[in-house]
Amino acid sequence: MNKNICCIGAGYIGGPTMAVIAEHCPDRTVMVVDINAERIAAWNSDQLPIYEPGLDDVVRRVRNRNLFFSTDIEAAIQSCDIIFVGVNTPTKMFGRGAGCASDLQYWEATARTIVKAANSNKIVVEKCTLPVRTAAAMEQILQEHPRYHFDVISNPEFLAEGSAIADLEHPDRVLIGGHQTPQGLAAIEAIVDIYAAWVPRERILATNVWSSELTKLVANAMLAQRVSSINSISALCEETGADIDEVARAMGMDGRIGAKFLKAGPGFGGSCFRKDILNLVYICESYGLKEVAEYWRQVVLINDYQQERLVGNMLLEMFNTVANKRIALFGFAFKANTGDTRESPAIRIARLLLDEHAQLAITDPKALAHAQGDLSDVADRVHFTTDPYEAAQGADAIVVLTDWAEYRTLDFARLYAGMRKPAFLFDARNMLDLAGLRAIGFHARGVGKGVAE
Ligand code: UDX
Ligand code: UDX
Repeated sequence: MNKNICCIGAGYIGGPTMAVIAEHCPDRTVMVVDINAERIAAWNSDQLPIYEPGLDDVVRRVRNRNLFFSTDIEAAIQSCDIIFVGVNTPTKMFGRGAGCASDLQYWEATARTIVKAANSNKIVVEKCTLPVRTAAAMEQILQEHPRYHFDVISNPEFLAEGSAIADLEHPDRVLIGGHQTPQGLAAIEAIVDIYAAWVPRERILATNVWSSELTKLVANAMLAQRVSSINSISALCEETGADIDEVARAMGMDGRIGAKFLKAGPGFGGSCFRKDILNLVYICESYGLKEVAEYWRQVVLINDYQQERLVGNMLLEMFNTVANKRIALFGFAFKANTGDTRESPAIRIARLLLDEHAQLAITDPKALAHAQGDLSDVADRVHFTTDPYEAAQGADAIVVLTDWAEYRTLDFARLYAGMRKPAFLFDARNMLDLAGLRAIGFHARGVGKGVAE
């Protein structure tokens, strides 16, 4: 077996993961290929197609050393024995399972491309999140090959956007699932070997292939469930005079509960949580587990409810109308330190405000290009600017939607001076000093901050 690696799919997962593998495995040639020529050209340029702290530096060090980006998928398949697959698996929008199931057409097309191009036995590694038992379907396609044998390994990626490089450098764990046969175990070992170059062995877990596939879905569902749980309680805090940050802090200090993923906000976004939970719901339903499916569906419903609730609160404060009022949205990315807006709560909140006939001014340090794409059908009612002061000029309200650190150090007195009065500020991330803002003159409100009496 040769030591080369290729990855099909140069997205948020494929690009950063392969860059870090290339850095730590200088004796391996790593090829990242994609059907999208524009994306590959960007990976080969100074303007990478995704923004991720630290990514530019890693790519600069390894690109054209042992990391290569190309559109020649067949050549890449032929030059290596280990093929990672990181193509997208969006929610299916048609036919059976529409709105819930995973759309596996790209993954299946990729499997067929591998079969067609293969010139030796291969290990095919599922890097993207897939419904449990997808490996079985893929094996069926791959096994059609008359000459060569294919081992399918599940190696889900747990990196979070905005901290992808740090997560890849120091993963909590690396999960590698394979069949518990001599050949399957050997394939697992071949993948363990890659990660062992920098990840301590005790953090590399080998499991059966179904456990690995399911773990990825469930890990995302559990994280999202924590966000929905805390957001549901934020509504109760507003009614009762409790403060959600105090509740979360005190609760999170219980070692059994833990402090992470308890920050109330505008709801979770990102390409994974919603898609993966809906997929889990669909799988449960397809096995007849109706109650289990309903339990997890509620996590998504609470997320939608939180966004509707936030807009409802704004309306209430602003005299029940935002028609023709300028509202400045601070942040459009689904979280800080990324330019990604997929499933961002800002999209839904922007549309709900537009339904109320508001005028929007949107600012974000990294995500404006995607924001413009997301709202292209309503562009005439939205102004885009990288300058928060310009966004707030003449506005009735500022709504902080993304937790960009730089929003903490803005000159709020200057922002206030440029706004129409009364000036409102809705901090949907609970990241600003509400008392300080009120002292300036803002009518300031957070999430889950009841009025204590
Ligand atoms: C995606 C999903 O977001 C994630 O949930 C899933 O677990 C893995 O796939 P990501 O890397 O974020 O991860 O996707 P994306 O940025 O859309 O990249 C996928 C890439 O695959 C795209 O560049 C696309 O052009 C490429 N692709 C897609 C192929 O090369 N071949 C195909 O047939 C389809
Ligand atoms: C997630 C998982 O964390 C990662 O392991 C998996 O590989 C992909 O999906 P990602 O979506 O990139 O990563 O970001 P994450 O940090 O998990 O945040 C998801 C969303 O939840 C964001 O919109 C974030 O703002 C929100 N969130 C997170 C909260 O509202 N409160 C929290 O306490 C944590």
